Amino acid sequence: MKTVSSSQALFPTSSKLCTPYLLLLPLGLLAAVVVIPSLGSSHVRSNGLGVLCPGLDTDGYSVASGAAEKVVSTSAETTTLTAPQPELRLLVGVLTTPKRYERRGIVRLAYALQPATPAYAQVDVRFVLCGVGIDPVDRTLVALEAAQHGDILLLNCTENMNDGKTHEYFSSVPRTFAETPYDYVMKTDDDTYLRVAAMADELRSKPRDDAYIGYGFEVGDDPMQFMHGMGYIVSWDIASWVSTNEDILRYNDTHGPEDLLFGKWLNIGKRGKNRYDLKPRMYDLNWFRDNFRPDTIAVHMIKDNRRWAEAFRYFNVTSA
Ligand SMILES: *[C@@H]1O[C@H](CO)[C@@H](O)[C@H](O)[C@H]1NC(C)=O
Ligand SMILES: *[C@@H]1O[C@H](CO)[C@@H](O)[C@H](O)[C@H]1NC(C)=O
Ligand SMILES: *[C@@H]1O[C@H](CO)[C@@H](O)[C@H](O)[C@H]1NC(C)=O
Repeated sequence: MKTVSSSQALFPTSSKLCTPYLLLLPLGLLAAVVVIPSLGSSHVRSNGLGVLCPGLDTDGYSVASGAAEKVVSTSAETTTLTAPQPELRLLVGVLTTPKRYERRGIVRLAYALQPATPAYAQVDVRFVLCGVGIDPVDRTLVALEAAQHGDILLLNCTENMNDGKTHEYFSSVPRTFAETPYDYVMKTDDDTYLRVAAMADELRSKPRDDAYIGYGFEVGDDPMQFMHGMGYIVSWDIASWVSTNEDILRYNDTHGPEDLLFGKWLNIGKRGKNRYDLKPRMYDLNWFRDNFRPDTIAVHMIKDNRRWAEAFRYFNVTSA
């Protein structure tokens, strides 16, 4: 009940809302009421409606404002006020494409059904899609998905893997979440299983600035020239730096393998001095063998349902 009244206060500027969003609002509120309390503060949070705004002035889409997060914190006012601020806040962006509905469903389960995130950490997970040129069917279905789950981040780009999507993601995040900055921003893929508590534990003792963390890729005698695209994390200052660095765009340095290029930007800009290689606790699955390890932070190459099932079984998700 409280949620409904507080969410009315949330949308005072209805002129800013987009039509599909307005249509979907009742559904979104339902989701906020039903889904979010069950997540609780100790779980991975993905609370906040994705905002889907086709045709805001331009032909582009605007990025989610995270406005609905306020629904959650307002409705849980008492807990928010008494609970200590988390020691670290991590945003996890899972880069995926609109049509991969089935995979998103599985990855959503993978994040929802994990041991509780430790109380000192807040981890928000978003699926990151490009919203420009999205086909009309996907536009509708993704809008419903955003209303139901509130975990979709739409970027102003055309879907691509090695043509600037990662740059758009890291550029958008500091603007989108400017009012509630995270300590760390992660980019990962929809064939990576991330164990959130293990990652939070790893990050807890790390510097909160100038940090670049992941599966280090060795080039020459540099053991960590860049971090493998399966999943890497940067501190907020680096995401902000990427978002405002015009040289990256001027030198057309967004076309090519995204992970290698990300390292290149940082190397040229002399950023990311606090580098940490999380091998072997981040790894690729072997093509022929399910070589999971008990101390996994992130495992990559989970490319089909059989392997996802195997991952759930191995990490005891199915025995809970
Ligand atoms: C989306 O990107 C295009 C091309 O870079 C730009 O012209 C446009 O203003 C952007 N739209 C929004 C809503 O940011
Ligand atoms: C940037 O690189 C892409 C791919 O190599 C190329 O198609 C495009 O024309 C380049 N743009 C500029 C401004 O150099
Ligand atoms: C899963 O549970 C079994 C039995 O309790 C245990 O031996 C194993 O270490 C657990 N696996 C992981 C990855 O925690």
